[in-house]
Amino acid sequence: MSTEDPRELVGSSPVAEEKAMEAALRPKALDDFVGQKTVRGQLSLVLESSRLRGAASDHVLLSGPPGLGKTTLAMIIAGEMNAPLRISSGPAIQHAGDLAAILSSLTEGEVLFIDEIHRMSRPAEEMLYMAMEDFRVDIIVGKGAGATSIPLELPPFTLVGATTRAGLLPGPLRDRFGFTGHLEYYSTEELELVLRRSAAMLDVSVSTEGFAEIASRSRGTPRIANRLLRRVRDWALVHSVEDVGRSAASEALDTYEVDRRGLDRLDRAVLEALCTKFRGGPVGLSTLAILVGEETETVETVAEPYLVREGFLARTPRGRIATDAAWEHLGLPVPVPEERSGG
Ligand SMILES: Nc1ncnc2c1ncn2[C@@H]1O[C@H](COP(=O)(O)OP(=O)(O)O)[C@@H](O)[C@H]1O
Ligand SMILES: [Mg+2]
Repeated sequence: MSTEDPRELVGSSPVAEEKAMEAALRPKALDDFVGQKTVRGQLSLVLESSRLRGAASDHVLLSGPPGLGKTTLAMIIAGEMNAPLRISSGPAIQHAGDLAAILSSLTEGEVLFIDEIHRMSRPAEEMLYMAMEDFRVDIIVGKGAGATSIPLELPPFTLVGATTRAGLLPGPLRDRFGFTGHLEYYSTEELELVLRRSAAMLDVSVSTEGFAEIASRSRGTPRIANRLLRRVRDWALVHSVEDVGRSAASEALDTYEVDRRGLDRLDRAVLEALCTKFRGGPVGLSTLAILVGEETETVETVAEPYLVREGFLARTPRGRIATDAAWEHLGLPVPVPEERSGG
């Protein structure tokens, strides 16, 4: 099952053209990393201690939804430790041999970043346990009865793992990380800081109200904030607007159908179907999906989490229901209890 979010504007996974742009906008030092005060503080202790000891840092696990800064932090960790960085990902490590090749070429103190570490294969995972704990792996040579295992010493290295689903990591793997940082969604104020920094780098001029407007539509996610900023920049360029204020930002994002709470066309279609066709529900997921013309999985993994998080939709054993906030957001009168189909 894939939970990739394919939406161009408010999806939280990077779209293809975005990777290079993201690299340019990434803060390079822990001090430039906005928000996540808890994780930043903890991480800075871990790194400082490793510097004082003159040894590789403990392994670090970063967990949290897409677009909140896991990859950025991994790069910052390597940067702060002045160590080279090797980047790989769970899906790229399907055989223990893939991992053995990476591990055996690590240099002392190197940071190995494994993105989506929950998607690594089982045998690779087991090899990683030993590498993390004892800085040693057993390489199996040959097959069947003639197979022999050759122990290989590894230089001390720091593993940084990132996962969107910490719950899917097997206990033994989770336990081998000395430090786990959970990234949280960002406040509007924090997103404004992210935007301010990016706007300076993209050379676009936005007012304080303009930043606030973009931030409030960014779903608590820096990746989305940066993306919306680029769309606002396009709009301003084409409309010859030199200083983007609240109304320009708002008009630009309305053009792209991202509303003032960050809902896009699909999110609103789901709420509208619930409210106007089912008087607020409850209605089953598959019925809802048919009504909005999407796959069940898309509705469940792409639209619903944010609608639930924002308190527009609730999942109940009898189906999905729209909350009062949903009616209000759509500009519809909130029904009195006896008018609701669900009672
Ligand atoms: N705390 C932050 N401060 C500034 N920019 C951030 C922050 N977190 C994320 N970003 C920006 O958001 C984008 C996505 O971040 P990334 O680290 O790739 O997220 P993840 O790996 O968690 O999906 C990057 O362009 C990065 O510059
Ligand atoms: Mg990432």
